[in-house]
Amino acid sequence: MICVWFTGLSGAGKTTLAVALKEKLLSKGYTVYHEDGDISRQKKNFLGFSHADRIKHNIMVIDEVAQFEKYDFVLVSLISPFQKTRDYSRKKINNYFEIFVSCPIEVCIERDPKKIYEAYFQGKIKDVTGLDQEYEIPNEPNLITYSNQNSIKNCVENIYGALVNKFSLAER
Ligand code: ADX
Repeated sequence: MICVWFTGLSGAGKTTLAVALKEKLLSKGYTVYHEDGDISRQKKNFLGFSHADRIKHNIMVIDEVAQFEKYDFVLVSLISPFQKTRDYSRKKINNYFEIFVSCPIEVCIERDPKKIYEAYFQGKIKDVTGLDQEYEIPNEPNLITYSNQNSIKNCVENIYGALVNKFSLAER
């Protein structure tokens, strides 16, 4: 199993890229499981968005990844804002491949697909990553994807190429 872990701000494009990568990998005949932050959180609605709860959530997901060992690929799309938990992912997961989905916060605010930023500016929510809570830029990602400078297709081609390279995958 290879775990492709997407980290980045809300609205950066983690879920979109994971869904598109999943399609690509399935078309190559691989088995793929996708664990998305929103879906994962539906099952853990006792968790909020404080620093401590985000760490708890991230650690739960890291532990869950082990259950999907039988898949060729497990894709995780999670804000995962802290270096400490990403270090833990790398330590716990054998074939861990981290992708920093880089996108300026202004662009994320503009996109605001889940209206998280709007809710923040209206004073309805707090602890928003990149605004009143920190996003620690990954210090050792395997790949950086600039989602506002490339098409989804290009990003996915780059990611796939990097995976083939890193894990010596046979061309299919
Ligand atoms: S993480 O920090 O625990 O890694 P995660 O990816 O699960 O974050 O966040 C899941 C979703 O929760 C985000 O995509 C966003 O829609 C929503 N969200 C993030 N931050 C907040 C917040 N402060 N308040 C409410 N919802 C949030």
